[in-house]
Amino acid sequence: MEEPAAGSSRAWGVRLKGPGMQALVLLLWTGALLGSGSCQNAGPEEGSPAPDTVGAPVEEEDPFFKVPVNKLAAAVSNFGYDLYRVRSSESPTANVLLSPLSVATALSALSLGAEQRTESSLHRALYYDLISNPDLHGTYKELLAAVTAPQKNLKSASRIIFEKKLRIKASFVAPLEKSYGTRPRILTGNSRLDLQEVNNWVQAQTKGKVARSTRELPGEISILLLGVAYFKGQWVTKFDSRKTSLEDFHLDEERTVKVPMMSDPKAVLRYGLDSDLNCKIAQLPLTGSMSIIFFLPLKVTQNLTMIEESLTSEFIHDIDRELKTVQAVLTVPKLKLSYEGELTKSVQELKLQSLFDSPDFSKITGKPIKLTQVEHRIGFEWNEDGGSATSSPGPRLTFPLDYHLNQPFIFVLRDTDTGALLFIGKILDPRST
Ligand SMILES: *[C@@H]1O[C@H](CO)[C@@H](O)[C@H](O)[C@H]1NC(C)=O
Repeated sequence: MEEPAAGSSRAWGVRLKGPGMQALVLLLWTGALLGSGSCQNAGPEEGSPAPDTVGAPVEEEDPFFKVPVNKLAAAVSNFGYDLYRVRSSESPTANVLLSPLSVATALSALSLGAEQRTESSLHRALYYDLISNPDLHGTYKELLAAVTAPQKNLKSASRIIFEKKLRIKASFVAPLEKSYGTRPRILTGNSRLDLQEVNNWVQAQTKGKVARSTRELPGEISILLLGVAYFKGQWVTKFDSRKTSLEDFHLDEERTVKVPMMSDPKAVLRYGLDSDLNCKIAQLPLTGSMSIIFFLPLKVTQNLTMIEESLTSEFIHDIDRELKTVQAVLTVPKLKLSYEGELTKSVQELKLQSLFDSPDFSKITGKPIKLTQVEHRIGFEWNEDGGSATSSPGPRLTFPLDYHLNQPFIFVLRDTDTGALLFIGKILDPRST
C-alpha cells in the first residue's frame, strides 16, 4: 500500500457529498423501521442518490469546522485515520488498537524543532497544510486541555526522547513545554536506568493503567517518539450485569467463539444503515461528552477495507449529524485490549520517510539527528459500567431494531465537543488482549 493518505481523504473546506452519505440519509428510516430484517435486502435500493450531485461541492464549510480547535482536531484526526488504515492493512487478520492522538501530538511537538522542509513534511502528514492557523501550537494546547479534562477519563501523553547526552536548545524546550506540557527526555546511555525511567513516566502518565514494559529500549536511538494512552469507557446508560452472558461471536463465516456479551433489550442509540458501505452504524454516548461509533458490516467478514477507506473527520462528523435515535435490542462484547509496540514502519508510510533519512532539526540541536523509532503503549476497555441505570425512553417503533456486535466490527471513540478521534479499533476477536 503505497499511498495510504488517498487523494479523496484530503478533501477539505467544502465537504464533498459523496454517494455514501446520501444513501445513509435516505435509508435511515427504512433501516430503522425494517429493523434487522433490512440487512437481508441491503443491496441497491430505490431512492439511490441523485447522480448530479455526486462529487460536486454542494455545501459550505460546516460552522463546526470554523472553530479553530475543532478544525485542528479534524486535521490530526485525519492523520489518525490514515495511520489506522496503514496499521490495519499491515494486520489483516488481527485486532488493531490505536490512540492516534498521542502519536499526532508527539509529531506536532517535534515539528517545533523542524526547519522548513522537514516542517512541511510533518505539516502535510498532520493535514496542517490544509488549515490556516497562525497559532497551531497554541490551538493544540487548547485541544489537549479539552480532551484530557478530568471528566473525559482519558489518559493520553506524548514524549520526545533524544539520544544520550544530546545538547538541546532552550529555544526548543520552552515552546514545547508551553504548548505540549512535556519536557524532552535525554537518555543517559545506561539502558537499564533509561528503561526504568521511561516505565516510570508511562506509569505516572496513565496512573499505572498501562503495564510496565519488559522490552529493552531500542539500541540505536536518535529521536524516539512515545505515545501512551489509556481509556475506560463509562456509558451514559450502564448495562445490567445480570444480563451479561457467554454468547457466540462469529470470527468469520465458519468459526465461532463464546465471549462475555453485555445486553440491553431496550437500548436507546443513534443509528443509520449505510447501503454503500453495507454496514449498520450505531453510536452510543459515553459520559464526559464522548461517544463511540460502531461500524458493523451486514455480513460476517474480516475484510473491513471498504469502511476503513471512507473514514475521515468530515465523514464521521456527517454521520454524527445524520444518525437517528432509535430503540434497539443491543448486545456488545466486553472488551479489554492493550497494545505495546512500534509504529515506526507505519509512520514512515505516511509520507514521513524523510524524517528517518536526513531531516533538518537544527532548531533542536546543532548535531544531525533523525527520527529512529515511534512507540505506542496503550490500554482500552469497556464493561457494563456507566452513569445512570435506565435510559430515557426512546422513540416508539413497531419493530424494535436489533444491533448485535457479535462479528468483526470497527469502533471509533471521539470527543463530542471537538470531534477529536481518541481511539480507534478493529475488533476481529474480542478475546484477544
Ligand atoms: C477486501 O475487500 C475489498 C473491497 O471491498 C477488495 O478490494 C479486497 O481485495 C478485499 N481484500 C481481501 C484480502 O479479500
